[in-house]
Amino acid sequence: MSALPEISARRDELVALRHDLHAHPELAFQEQRTSDRVAEFLAAQGIAVHRGLAGTGVVGILKRGDSPRAIGLRADMDALPVREQNLFPHRSRHDGRMHACGHDGHTAMLLGAAQHLAAHPDFDGTVVFIFQPAEESDGGARVMIEQGLFQQFPVSAVFGMHNWPGLPAGQFAVHNGPVMACADQFDILLRGHGAHAAMPHQGRDPLLAGAALVQALQSVVSRRLDPLESAVVSITQFFAGGEAYNVIPAEARIGGTVRAFKPEIEDAIEAAMEDLCAGIAAAHGVQATLDYRRGYPPTLNTQAEAALCRDVLIDMVGSANVRTDAAPSMGAEDFSYMLREKPGCYVWIGNGLAEGGCMLHNPLYDFNDAILPLGSSYWVRLVQKLLSKG
Ligand code: NI
Repeated sequence: MSALPEISARRDELVALRHDLHAHPELAFQEQRTSDRVAEFLAAQGIAVHRGLAGTGVVGILKRGDSPRAIGLRADMDALPVREQNLFPHRSRHDGRMHACGHDGHTAMLLGAAQHLAAHPDFDGTVVFIFQPAEESDGGARVMIEQGLFQQFPVSAVFGMHNWPGLPAGQFAVHNGPVMACADQFDILLRGHGAHAAMPHQGRDPLLAGAALVQALQSVVSRRLDPLESAVVSITQFFAGGEAYNVIPAEARIGGTVRAFKPEIEDAIEAAMEDLCAGIAAAHGVQATLDYRRGYPPTLNTQAEAALCRDVLIDMVGSANVRTDAAPSMGAEDFSYMLREKPGCYVWIGNGLAEGGCMLHNPLYDFNDAILPLGSSYWVRLVQKLLSKG
């Protein structure tokens, strides 16, 4: 690893900050304490602070020199409704809430960078530090954008970073194009005709139609999409019937999620699902209604910014430690909303091998303190590169 020496020297301070955030996790749009800590920390560095976007969002604005150039660096602040199983001293003090995705580390890394940049004015332009609520649900990034984030704080590009268990500490991954998938949801309501289970011919069975539909939906990816495209259709819910063993219910409901990397693939999947709902419903004499809802869009890095981040990282840790061949993830990320507005790049920083359950969203997860200075240093070097003097 090669973090900046001044940042490495402050490692203990960053670790203490990260542990404090970890011990006090807050859920989506409730990040009051976290938001206070972030705002106080920024203000203590002499950085201008704006609060209130999406409720708990915090924006720090640091301008040096005369250049009108401006870039956005983003961290997420929210925790998950997970009951922590770790027993270390900085474990969650809030029962049923946990920083199980490392957003405590993301926040600490960006604060570490802000501290360094405020003390070392060796850049020319404006850095907009974006601390967003509610990455895990409800799209805090989207809400900040809707409430005027980029009108109030115009930037030419935005950058994000997420820790990645399984990727060794000291390494990074940069994707040219898709990094994370979209996360759409759907519900299908099947309306049949209830009947006595001993006289099924008198009814129209939505449960049998639903079973056929669950099977048929597996053909969307395998038969309707180009085999070279990537997508998932997962049915995760099937509700029908009550307590009676002798009643054919009148309704059944199926729910699930769709993942893909391209909006046109989402469109194709939705259309194929409509076809199957109509066809299977007709075959079984029931009615099917598909409610398909777009969630987080796919996270797509732009080429020029991905190349730039890659160059900064190679300068910092060497090309052997910068993966450019990592497969994208079928998980989703609401930084995608920012990348829909602005060019930019979202990188993965290795959190180390995922031993002992140290995987994202696992109750035994923890952010790797050893990488805090490295992550902060990446942010600093990115600013120095993008907003270089003269
Ligand atoms: Ni996360």
